[in-house]
Amino acid sequence: MSLQGEKTRALYRKASQFIPHGVNSNFRYWGPDDTLVISRGEGAYIWDMDGNRYIDYRLGFGPIILGHADPRVNQIVADSIRDGTVFAWTTPREVEVAERICRMTSVEKVRLTNTGTEATMHTLRLARAHTNRERFIKFEGQYHGMCDYFLYSTASSNLGMLGSRRSPVVGTGTSGVPKAINQYVTILPYNDVEMLERAVKAQWGDLAAIFIEPMMGNVAGILPGPEFLQTARRLCDEYGIVMVFDEVKTGFRIARGGAQEFFGVRADLVTYAKSLGNGFPVAAYGGKEEVMMTIEPGQVACGGTYAGNAVGAAAAIATLEILEKEPVIETINQRGKMLMNGIGEILSEAGIPHVVTGLPSMFGILLGEEQEPMEFRDYIKGDSALYEKICFGLIERGVQPDSDGREPWFLCYALSEEDVNETLNVFNDAVQAAL
Ligand SMILES: Cc1ncc(COP(=O)(O)O)c(C=O)c1O
Repeated sequence: MSLQGEKTRALYRKASQFIPHGVNSNFRYWGPDDTLVISRGEGAYIWDMDGNRYIDYRLGFGPIILGHADPRVNQIVADSIRDGTVFAWTTPREVEVAERICRMTSVEKVRLTNTGTEATMHTLRLARAHTNRERFIKFEGQYHGMCDYFLYSTASSNLGMLGSRRSPVVGTGTSGVPKAINQYVTILPYNDVEMLERAVKAQWGDLAAIFIEPMMGNVAGILPGPEFLQTARRLCDEYGIVMVFDEVKTGFRIARGGAQEFFGVRADLVTYAKSLGNGFPVAAYGGKEEVMMTIEPGQVACGGTYAGNAVGAAAAIATLEILEKEPVIETINQRGKMLMNGIGEILSEAGIPHVVTGLPSMFGILLGEEQEPMEFRDYIKGDSALYEKICFGLIERGVQPDSDGREPWFLCYALSEEDVNETLNVFNDAVQAAL
């Protein structure tokens, strides 16, 4: 059985002739028979080349906060490009985006980039320049983009050797990263405050930053324990370390002000991307004035030809305006709660041990376990084969989460209650078929 219909298969084969594995990002590759080619999206739906419609819960790995092809965002973007796209000068739109981001998130200064990777990469340089230290702490299973420095112990590459929990192996996520830069990263399990405290006390003189996804956006939406973020905050204050929240997935999604607002903890630097532009390429890094003003022309390099370009800036203005004026987050949360509860009930009725993790706007499902997962090692204990089987059943029936349970289910504003009910009916059928 293949997910590809005839036309999808034909275009995928052609794609593979010209594009390595037929995809422009490895995460999109599901093998030669199940990698889809999508012709269009609208609202909560996407259609493949064969005209099959799916209720979309991947949402491009999270950026689609409003819905695919939101006409209001598209209109403002279309209007903006009539005036040109890049000038190597500041434009009024960049000023408006920056003002909006500062207002909504409480960062004091902000710079725009195009992708999350550019944002995290700049943030690391800034933290190093600010502290005059070079090492940073990263947690197992967290993903901070495609930059070499971060490709260690990510969820997508590290299902093999993790090492002892007391001394995690620094697992390079890919070939092609120089061994020499291993020395700059300390890997710790997520949510372990004692290990964090011990590592900081031992290494603080070398530590520029602690990088944290404030919830595990790349491991089933695992939430921070009650003291985790607060402990990291306290340690950063005590030891002069820059606390970085990587909000590429949580920003403008779990609350208007992102994880800082939701968890009530302020970081020194924060990265934003996905929901900032409803699918257009725009991202940002911002934070406390004192740290952001380490950026110094000629001394501390931060920039890019397309940083702040008209398309991304216009998309961000339109998306943030809708997020501020309309009950986007509230609606998503209401639908998300329905889904989380409904999925839980179906799994209970089917006698499948499970935990539904995360928050209504981005949640995960762990099968075969009943204990709330606290870190990547807990996630691995789950029954990912059964999860994948259920997901393939869902996709064949027109509901599309990612079949890899590490990737959360994302919701958009366009998703209706009818869509949720349809999803739950289909979920029930897929579970029955998988047993
Ligand atoms: C938490 C986090 N940080 C950074 C990135 C990288 O963002 P981008 O893919 O836009 O480079 C991602 C991408 O999924 C992410 O989830």
